Amino acid sequence: MNSLQINDKTRLLKKLRQTTVGIDLEYRLATGEKSRRIYLDSTASTLQLGLVSDVISKYMPFYSNTHTSAHFGAKLSTVEFDWAHNKVLSFVNADPETYTAFFVGSGTTGGINRIARTLREKRPQRRVVITSIMEHHSNDLPHRRHFDQVVHVPTQVSGSDLGCIDLGRIEKALQEHGDNVNYISVTGVSNVTGIKNPVYDIADLAHRYNTLILVDAAQMAAHVPIKMSGHENPARNIDMLALSGHKMYAPSSPGVVITRKDLFAGIEPVEVGGGMVEDVHINRYLPIDNFPDREEAGTPNIVGAIALATVMHALQTLGMDFIDQEESRIIRQAIDKLERIDDVIVYGNTDPNTDSGKSKRIGALSFNIKGMDHALTAAILNDYFNISVRNACFCAQPYVREMITDELGEIADHLTNEELEAFAELHRGMVRASFGIYNDSTDVQALADAVQTICNNQEFYQQQYEKIPDGDYRHKTFNFDCTPLFSAAAEVDRWLAS
Ligand SMILES: Cc1ncc(COP(=O)(O)O)c(C=O)c1O
Repeated sequence: MNSLQINDKTRLLKKLRQTTVGIDLEYRLATGEKSRRIYLDSTASTLQLGLVSDVISKYMPFYSNTHTSAHFGAKLSTVEFDWAHNKVLSFVNADPETYTAFFVGSGTTGGINRIARTLREKRPQRRVVITSIMEHHSNDLPHRRHFDQVVHVPTQVSGSDLGCIDLGRIEKALQEHGDNVNYISVTGVSNVTGIKNPVYDIADLAHRYNTLILVDAAQMAAHVPIKMSGHENPARNIDMLALSGHKMYAPSSPGVVITRKDLFAGIEPVEVGGGMVEDVHINRYLPIDNFPDREEAGTPNIVGAIALATVMHALQTLGMDFIDQEESRIIRQAIDKLERIDDVIVYGNTDPNTDSGKSKRIGALSFNIKGMDHALTAAILNDYFNISVRNACFCAQPYVREMITDELGEIADHLTNEELEAFAELHRGMVRASFGIYNDSTDVQALADAVQTICNNQEFYQQQYEKIPDGDYRHKTFNFDCTPLFSAAAEVDRWLAS
């Protein structure tokens, strides 16, 4: 299945879309009608591919813990778990001689915490981490926790790279902090604007200044090809990377770290327990040298790892270049359609001519309707249009604040002080629409039509809601009750009674 023709790819993509779990889900809306839910919250978590349910249900009868070959189930599980590690390496183009992949507890967050703790111990004399202002808190707080200083490089505030990481400022920080820099850690793709960063250029820069690069690939891995090693210029290789399986169509799966082995070798692993030791005596123990075992203390999430590798196998077969192209088209359409609506502000550079440049967008976009609180827009999109989006600051408060302040600057001249304050209050957040391989042009059109309808009828919609103390909005007459749709306890009772 390696060299699929374009028609085959289109057919396969359609099959993956149609079989996504929950793609045809219907909810009853505030209008009383029932309609198909349009899921535009993939940046938080993707839906599950039907393929994953199929493959995992076939695996489950064989399920067993790994770490032994004493019986058939353990042998089979060990083979499949090994396959999962190898699949991850090949998915991110990491040479298995140099790199290892291991699974960690909680998504990218778990991975970045592990890397920060390990690198702090491995290179204790280097006390500074350089990151950017556009990072998710998960690619910021772990460095703050384990290092003396974290430098937050700003993003470009104007021009074609608006919202993109400022390479010049990274270089300045490298010059300023010299050999104290342990590593640079940047996101591959922003979870707010979908802006893609030039991670290979940043790698080149990091290596020229004799330091390392860590890429937060939480929003990159499902949408664009990743090439950790094998660059013609090896300085462009990526040293460490973390990603989340639940953002890659396998919600039950763990986080993953892919790293150069030498960076984790020669020190005691920061997590210890069963499965990672050679020898244990009452007064000492000896960790094993083998990767990835030495980084996987305890019983791993074997099922989740196989689920994730299953998706990676399918995406690889389809081709990440193909997926990138398809999704770029969708996001471009979405930005284009929203930009045409007078009352809408789309954040980040929206110039289509920069598509091949640094600020290419993928996966997500964030916007506001002028004069409307982001929380209200999100509630209306859900209650009246069955469009699932997310709002607020998306765990990236510094970046969201910077973008909003920038926007405020442009109109500030025309507003009174009171109006300025009201505006700042209103726009302390954004609405984010994010896309996965199961979204198509009809979803984009539905979003644009819904936003246009809201803009045309702002007063009507505003009257239907009241603001509640936590900042969200409650519909005055419509109440969503989830219990009849699903309750785990009720399902258990039904099963036990049957
Ligand atoms: C860019 C980015 N990094 C890190 C994370 C954290 O991922 P997780 O919650 O899977 O640990 C997210 C989650 O949204 C993200 O968008």
